[in-house]
Amino acid sequence: MSGTSADGIDAALVEFTAAGRRRVPRVIAAASTPYPATLRERVLSLAQTDRALALDDYGRLDVAIGACFAGAASALLRTCGVDPSRVRAIGSHGQTVRHRVGGEQPFTLQIGDPSVIAERTGITTVADFRRADVAAGGQGAPLLPALHAEVFASSSIPRAILNLGGIANLTLLAPGRPVVGFDTGPANCLLDAWVQRHRGTPHDDHGAWARSGRVDAALLAQLLADPWFARPAPKSTGREHFNLGWLEPRLPAAIAAVDVQATLLALTAQSIAAALQRHAADVRELYACGGGVHNTALMAALRSALPGVAIETTQVLGVDPDHVEAIGFAWLARARLAGEPGNLPSVTGARGARLLGAIYAAPSLPMSR
Ligand SMILES: Nc1ncnc2c1ncn2[C@@H]1O[C@H](COP(=O)(O)OP(=O)(O)O)[C@@H](O)[C@H]1O
Ligand SMILES: [Mg+2]
Repeated sequence: MSGTSADGIDAALVEFTAAGRRRVPRVIAAASTPYPATLRERVLSLAQTDRALALDDYGRLDVAIGACFAGAASALLRTCGVDPSRVRAIGSHGQTVRHRVGGEQPFTLQIGDPSVIAERTGITTVADFRRADVAAGGQGAPLLPALHAEVFASSSIPRAILNLGGIANLTLLAPGRPVVGFDTGPANCLLDAWVQRHRGTPHDDHGAWARSGRVDAALLAQLLADPWFARPAPKSTGREHFNLGWLEPRLPAAIAAVDVQATLLALTAQSIAAALQRHAADVRELYACGGGVHNTALMAALRSALPGVAIETTQVLGVDPDHVEAIGFAWLARARLAGEPGNLPSVTGARGARLLGAIYAAPSLPMSR
């Protein structure tokens, strides 16, 4: 898995065991590998919407990312001494370089050539999970609510699961009701971009810089006034919308960079809190996952924005918050190979349940025998 943050690759070796109709994931080993700096720059550059696309850059990056993913998977197997022949499949999300699902020709594009992954690892690879849902009229996102429902739902109390990646997405699990899930807006993407520009670091460690600034209430109100936030679900978003080009025209003439960071952190917390109150005012338990759980200032801001809600991480439910997304794509690969649908139409808005992902066979399969 590599998300909108483009911070690196999260790999998890997962085993699923059946418990009634549910499947319980067990993480055997997991590792995060940062993208090499030059590769990250190429990803972020290709993901910029104002830049003309060079097809050669695109093709080369597709293969380079595939090779990087393959390297992460093989390294993980080596560290835990598991032979590739024992792995049923790799589920590869790919690196999103565009997600434009509004408009006449909606599309979403994840790259990282799955044939390269299958060839280099010797493991059947399932990839391209989002496009079948988009073709069926859905948002193609978020896809994790299906996993959240299977692993984190309670039969008696409503729960919310919050993924804090580049973008934030919320899953609402209420007993006896269809699963609801949607993006709430930026989680880390604006925070990362702003701290990168002003401090030269890829993220604001523990939110310490944001914590030392002051929230500009007028700016916060202006940012929250973007009509995207009030749009009804299903909805999803990405860097195409929430980027520095979106922020800059809204900034007042004289504002300290540190106060912008504090205000962006408040934007993340407030937009999540507003979405939860609008869609599930009865929820009293929220479990967070994704890299944003390490931003202690963000977690504190969420707690003060939602005083009536107990906010923990998914660790309390037995799953390391850094592993949830990677588990999700193992889960989707398993579903695809079992011929089971991966999307939840109540979440994505697709016309129906669909098989998600395409299968790239391991090189040693039938023909060489
Ligand atoms: N120690 C930390 N302090 C602050 N933010 C962090 C920390 N660790 C991770 N993050 C944030 O989490 C992001 C990565 O989260 P991740 O779940 O991998 O997102 P994505 O799925 O978009 O790649 C980083 O870009 C960063 O903003
Ligand atoms: Mg990441």
